[in-house]
Amino acid sequence: MNRFTLPRDLYHGKDALAALKTLSGKKAMICVGGGSMKKFGFLDKAKAYLEEAGMEVAFFEGIEPDPSVETVMRGAEEMIKFQPDWIVAMGGGSPIDAAKAMWIKYEYPETTFEDMCKIFGLPKLRTKARFCAIPSTSGTATEVTAFSIITDYKKGVKYPIADFEITPDVAIVDPALAMTMPQKLVAHTGMDAMTHAVEAYVSTANCDYTDPLALNASLMVKADLVKSFNGDDGARERMHNAQCMAGMAFSNALLGIVHSMAHKTGAAFDDFGAHIIHGAANAMYLPKVIAYNAKDATAKKRYGALADFLKLGGSNDDEKVALLIKMLRGMNDELRIPHGIQSYGADSYPTEQGFVPEKVFLERLPKIAELAIGDACTGSNPRQPNQEEMEKLLKCCYYDLDVDF
Ligand SMILES: NC(=O)c1ccc[n+]([C@@H]2O[C@H](COP(=O)([O-])OP(=O)(O)OC[C@H]3O[C@@H](n4cnc5c(N)ncnc54)[C@H](O)[C@@H]3O)[C@@H](O)[C@H]2O)c1
Ligand SMILES: [Zn+2]
Repeated sequence: MNRFTLPRDLYHGKDALAALKTLSGKKAMICVGGGSMKKFGFLDKAKAYLEEAGMEVAFFEGIEPDPSVETVMRGAEEMIKFQPDWIVAMGGGSPIDAAKAMWIKYEYPETTFEDMCKIFGLPKLRTKARFCAIPSTSGTATEVTAFSIITDYKKGVKYPIADFEITPDVAIVDPALAMTMPQKLVAHTGMDAMTHAVEAYVSTANCDYTDPLALNASLMVKADLVKSFNGDDGARERMHNAQCMAGMAFSNALLGIVHSMAHKTGAAFDDFGAHIIHGAANAMYLPKVIAYNAKDATAKKRYGALADFLKLGGSNDDEKVALLIKMLRGMNDELRIPHGIQSYGADSYPTEQGFVPEKVFLERLPKIAELAIGDACTGSNPRQPNQEEMEKLLKCCYYDLDVDF
């Protein structure tokens, strides 16, 4: 038996934020990040809509990017004091993910962080509150997914919480919130969305319900991401929907080793000032992983079908795979994302000599490869790499070499 789970309601398009007026309850707690939602007036608007719905409103503000276990515990304490029956999380993936974890602790105060991280092991939520998510970035799609990513900074490790219990009840995908994103955030979160769509499409857990979402999302990202990056508002609006559809696909079809490698390299070189931003890591690794996965006959056929859907041309699957890789590399060029870790420089832009010295990369490579193999996303990848292959793949991602194995 398979399961396909999405939020009960999804409001989208212009002024979708006003859907907050339709929620019924007594008390809402709005959870936000560092200030962009307040600065651009969305926090006040959300409060006014909820008050119009007759609710008392409290805020939990200041959730940091890549949120910590400590922030989750602090937020849960505030919820226990205020007793909301709606949790409204607004902002990028970080505040929404943190609010999801706070929700678990609020409903079950005795739960530890370790308990939360048992994959698909959460108790029933919604005994105290329901959850509404409003994204302001166009990438993670956490407003529709069963995931939350929390960082344990003592261990220096990101942990996924995964369970359909934390799939939000209501998602509000209002394009106005995405309009204020700076260019770099558009590029990174947009390529994250493209990676979600492509990985979900070839995942071993793909199904008839996830395929149309993955295909359409990739078509929309191809059509609109570069335009959105260059300031086209219509494209920015369509990207907000595209990333959400990619999320619906991967929440149910899971991901693959592009994400495994991005998760384990992201913070691996922080001591060299080179935090490799999630979306940029995915953008660099996706073309390499496609070449690696295409050695699997089923995956190759699927990449060929995806290339056909994107109207890339090519007369056989080998040509189609090559054209798909070429298209993605071309997008990276237009979005000013490097092709390899070696050239990952300041502000994530390409440069001759990036932050991560070759010697340091090679020293850390075996451990990173081992961790990437053990990542939760590896299981649904079409090919299962061994230690030697994963090291070779990561080397191709460092030096920007062709993958021929
Ligand atoms: N839950 C999931 O399914 C899932 C999937 C992928 C990634 N993630 C996680 O999500 C997090 C990243 O989320 P993100 O990429 O959305 O970024 P983010 O939430 O970390 O925000 C990044 C920065 O952008 C700013 N920002 C957000 N929206 C803005 C806007 N509209 N205008 C101007 N500035 C804005 C924020 O204030 C912040 O400084 C990571 O922790 C990642 O691991 C979760
Ligand atoms: Zn991602």
